[in-house]
Parts: sequence; C-alpha cells; structure tokens
Amino acid sequence: MGQQEIGNGSADFVVVANRLPVDLDRGADGTQRWTASPGGLVTALEPFLRSRKGAWVGWPGVPGVEVDPFSDEGMVLYPVALTAEDVRDYYEGFSNATLWPLYHDVVERPVFDRGWWESYVKINRRFAEASARVAAGGATVWVQDYQLQLVPSMLRELRPDLRIGFFLHIPFPPVELFMQLPWRAEIVRGLIGADLVGFHRPGGAQNFLWLARTLVGLEPSRGAVGVRSRPGMMQVGNRTVRVGAFPISIDAAKLDTLARTRQVAERAAEIRRDLGNPRTVLLGVDRLDYTKGIDLRLQALHELLHEGRVKPEDVTFVQLATPSRERVEHYQRMRSDIEQMVGRINGEFARVGHPVVHYLHQSVSRTELAAFYSAADVMVVTPLRDGMNLVCKEYVACRHDLGGVLVLSEFAGAAAELTSAFLVNPHDLDGVKNALEAAITLDPAEGRRRMRALRRQVLTHDVDRWARSFLEALGSEPAS
Ligand code: ADP
Ligand code: G6P
Repeated sequence: MGQQEIGNGSADFVVVANRLPVDLDRGADGTQRWTASPGGLVTALEPFLRSRKGAWVGWPGVPGVEVDPFSDEGMVLYPVALTAEDVRDYYEGFSNATLWPLYHDVVERPVFDRGWWESYVKINRRFAEASARVAAGGATVWVQDYQLQLVPSMLRELRPDLRIGFFLHIPFPPVELFMQLPWRAEIVRGLIGADLVGFHRPGGAQNFLWLARTLVGLEPSRGAVGVRSRPGMMQVGNRTVRVGAFPISIDAAKLDTLARTRQVAERAAEIRRDLGNPRTVLLGVDRLDYTKGIDLRLQALHELLHEGRVKPEDVTFVQLATPSRERVEHYQRMRSDIEQMVGRINGEFARVGHPVVHYLHQSVSRTELAAFYSAADVMVVTPLRDGMNLVCKEYVACRHDLGGVLVLSEFAGAAAELTSAFLVNPHDLDGVKNALEAAITLDPAEGRRRMRALRRQVLTHDVDRWARSFLEALGSEPAS
C-alpha cells in the first residue's frame, strides 16, 4: 500500500484509542515536540499499525489543543481534542479513578461519580463521531481499551457499514466487582456494538458473556472460550457478536535485534560499572501505578536486607518508573509511599556513593531500556493485577544470552504463558522474598534452561500474531 491519504472518509483500517501513539510535549519556552506516549497499548499497537499504514484516532495527551490530522511514517494520526474539564472528568475521573481500580480487583477504592459518567458518555460520543468521519465505506475500525467502551455501539449507530472490533487491554473483572458499577448495563450495551469483543484471557471473555446474559438478556453460547479459538457467540438483533481471548504481546524480533547490537551491549556493561559492579542487579520497570506492586518488591527487599539474607554490598535494585496520571489522588499517595520506602532502604543500608536502590522517576528510550534489561540479573515484575504486562516479555526478548532470571506475579496475564518464570503471589510477602532469594542464588545452568523456555514462548507469540489472530476472527484479515 502506498502513502495513505489524509482526509475524511479515506481510511480502510482505523485504530481508535484514548491516546495517540505520540504525546504533544510543550516546553516552558512555548516550543512543541512529539514524544512517545506511555504504556503497553502504544508499545504493542504502534509497530503493527505502522506496518499496516492505518489511521489512528486519539487524544494528543494535553488538554485544550486542537491539532490537524498529520501523517507519521506510514500512519495517519487524527487528533481528538479534550478540554481541561474533559481530562479531569472523563480521563482522570471516570477512566482512571472509577474503571481502572474497579477492573484491577479494587486494589484502590473506585469512585462512582455521576458527573464523571456524563463526561465519559460525551467524550465516547466525540471519539465515535471522529472515527465515523475518518473511516472509508466498509472499513474496519478497531476500538481500544476501557476509556472507550461505549464507542462500538455509538459508532455502529452512525456507521452500520463498518466492521467494528473492540479489545480490552486491562483485566475484565470478576462479575461480582463489575456488578458494583452503577452504569454496568450501559457499558455492556456499549461493547456489544462490536462484531468481536476481545480480552487477554478466556476468563474475561467468560465473565463478559455471563454479564450480557444477566444485564442485557442475550443468549450467549455456553461452551468454554479458548485462547485464540472457540469464541463465545451471541445474537444481537440480526448480528452475531463474537467474544474471544487474544493475549497481547510485543515486537519480540525487533527487541531481540536491538539487544544484540554493540551499542546496547556496551551500554549494559557501562550501567553495571556505574552501579559499582555489584554481584546482582535487580530491576523493576513500570509506569508508576499502584497496580504494579512496586511497594511490595521494595518491602520484600527491605526485609531480606534486614534479615541478612541478602547483603547490601552484593545487590543493587534499579527501579525505572514512568510518571503516570499524576493528578489522580490514588497515584499521588502511592508515589509518596514509594519514595519514602526508597529513602528508608537507602538510609539504612547505603554506603557513600553506593545506594542500594536507584529510583529513576523517568521514561527512558528503547535503546536505554534494552541496555537495562541486558544488565539485570533478576527482573522483578510483581503486579497485584495486570491485564498482560509487556515488561516481562520485553526482558525475555532481550536475553539472547540466556542470562537473567524472571520473577513474575501470578496475577499478570503473562503468567499463563511464562510458566518457566519464578511465579509469585504478590500478596504473600514471604513467598516473594523466597522467590527473590532463589532467583539471586539460582544455578546458572537452571537459569539458562528457564530462559530458553521463556524465549521460545515470547519469540513465537509476538504482537503481529496477536493482531492477525484478532483481525482474522473479526473477519477482516485473510487466514494465513
Ligand atoms: P502498562 O501498559 O500498564 O503500562 P505494560 O507492562 O503492559 O504496562 O507496558 C508498559 C510499557 O511501558 C512497556 O513497553 C515498557 O517498556 C514501557 N515502560 C515502562 N516504564 C518505562 C520507563 N521508565 N521508560 C521507558 N519505557 C517504560
Ligand atoms: C495502560 C492502558 C492504556 C494506557 C496506558 C498508559 O496500558 O491499558 O490504555 O494508555 O496504560 O496510561 P495513560 O493513562 O497515560 O494513557
């Protein structure tokens, strides 16, 4: 396919997500530049959409700016403007202080606010209208994530000619939790506007089918949903809606290639030197989010140091944390708790010039990230709940040397695939401590065996396979 046209009604394949893959960054001096957007959704979808030369409808990441559509190396981006009030009520409010905690097992208490809901409806309509303008006749429109769950039905009303898919990037909650939502039936009705509704795990799909029966009175099929197979089905008027499980992944080959470059190898060696060549480098990489269990891993490390099970001169823990949703209260509290814990561990165990914990509240480039992954002996991924978690897959993709050990929470979607990791229940602090200790002291031959098995899984189940399996099930991609 050649260069895509920019303009209304011109796109055959459209992704709609709350965020564009790039954020408009405005400097204090008034200069503007585009930077990569945070989070796993963008990491996963961006390379795929670029190769498809598709269109992307989304918010440019700052309130109150109107930007014209523009093309970006093969993709055409269609910005949707949000005012400061929209950001407060629809994004920080309903999306991130209601749905996010509710869908992540109420790790924090969700806030139910009627004004926020009204804003969510209004902004979902704005995204549906923008998508309806961009899509060509009979186009495929793929709506993404919890911020836009009403878009499938709204878009179908505007454009019945479209083929519409929806994918949820975060966990779909147990039905008992979903039933707390005052607008539960509206959300289910919003989603069934799609031809295919996708989740990471069969359990999420199964929960959704149960809710469609209970809240909307549909009659879904009863068989067990498989992974990329046996989707559930239900009749909605004269349409069949399918509901399936499609575990997302990363561009594994690209990261593998990057990790093999001299630049990354040299930088990895340099990082270890800068850290003072400790015996063991532990690493955490996350958006600074309370679902990620950053506090738990710090607590586990603190206790291990206290008990003398690990020595401060032997280990260094590096935590890279991308700033995230900084105006939401849950996030402000968690940030100050974590920063206090970092201070406390270093206060008790650091020596001059040798902190035990290096905490970087920063986003780093992909090359720098690959170097950190290559430098780390133990990767610590301990979310209390995570739809998939791409960080653990990225670590594995970078370890062509078969070095490194992965400690992974059972409550990340990725745990179902990465069974050769040290799997831990993050609520069980002693279990986390034992796993960290075992990972630090693991026999290298056993480590290589585990890493080989992990790499087999990650390199053969990449993001392209995810996208193709979803789009084939949606009926818009020829079976390969
Ligand atoms: P989520 O989507 O909830 O943020 P994922 O683990 O699925 O969690 O995806 C996170 C993505 O953000 C990964 O691609 C990871 O590499 C990237 N990331 C996280 N922290 C950083 C950081 N400090 N610097 C650069 N990239 C980061
Ligand atoms: C997760 C969500 C995405 C979101 C990302 C970053 O990956 O599933 O929808 O874009 O986090 O969060 P943010 O609120 O900064 O967009």
